[in-house]
Amino acid sequence: MILYFSACGNSRWVAETLADKLGERSLFIPDASDEVDLQEGEALGVVFPVYAWAPPRLVSDYIRRMRLRNKPAYVWFVCTCGDEAAFTHRVFQRVLRKAGLRLDACFCLQMPETYLAFPGFALDTPENEKRKIAKAEAELPRIAELIDRREQGRFETLRGKFPWLKTYVMQPVFYRFIIADRRFRANAQCTGCGRCERECPLHNIRMAEGRPEWQGHCTHCMSCYHHCPANAIHYGSFTEGKGQYYFGRNLRNK
Ligand SMILES: Cc1cc2nc3c(=O)[nH]c(=O)nc-3n(C[C@H](O)[C@H](O)[C@H](O)COP(=O)(O)O)c2cc1C
Ligand code: SF4
Ligand code: SF4
Repeated sequence: MILYFSACGNSRWVAETLADKLGERSLFIPDASDEVDLQEGEALGVVFPVYAWAPPRLVSDYIRRMRLRNKPAYVWFVCTCGDEAAFTHRVFQRVLRKAGLRLDACFCLQMPETYLAFPGFALDTPENEKRKIAKAEAELPRIAELIDRREQGRFETLRGKFPWLKTYVMQPVFYRFIIADRRFRANAQCTGCGRCERECPLHNIRMAEGRPEWQGHCTHCMSCYHHCPANAIHYGSFTEGKGQYYFGRNLRNK
């Protein structure tokens, strides 16, 4: 069983590719019930994007409240990140431990950047997007093989510089002061199509008189921004002219 979260498709693609290779089911966390029907002897995998050098809080919250039908025989996770994960693995290992689970292996894949709601953050160039996806695609068979043979104690990560500072100091600041949806707005290009409402994994957008309204429980996943067909959604002036990305977008636009 693979539980996953994804806003812009990178982690979904990783979860679905691994599910395919391993012959397992994959379940999108926002749609999953708290009762998890894990069979005896089954492994539990979790796939998610790195948010501010840590697992997304909604993923950790789900692990804390889920109830597994059977104890997993093997526990692993894969995180995707634009750049580096710092001590994401330590935070998630602790979340799992508190839920009574022992982490056996973890892996980290660089994928195209999605966060733009802060000055200085930008998408990768198209060449870099392609390079990261090709590299991850080449890595996935090896990761699947290690998971399949239930390799123990393999913690592959991309720590980067100053991981402690990023995960344990900057991450709480990010959640406390940066994450809010007050600055989201749709400009005059908005056609009222409602896609932003459908694409928000937290159901934080409601259409009112043909315009999106943000409801105050955002996690800055950027799904609404990237999926808007009119590129009408902006976060203050931070996202102006920065372009859009979601996994498979260029393929679909061809
Ligand atoms: C709120 C937010 C915070 C992020 N923080 C980080 C980070 O700390 N380090 C990093 O390398 N990438 C970071 N990213 C980039 C994503 O982890 C990366 O693009 C990921 O593959 C997106 O996955 P998804 O397409 O499944 O949503 C962040 C993205 C978002 C939306
Ligand atoms: S996805 Fe974009 S165009 Fe469609 S309703 Fe939302 S803001 Fe408007
Ligand atoms: S409203 Fe917030 S949580 Fe919903 S898609 Fe937009 S950024 Fe993500």
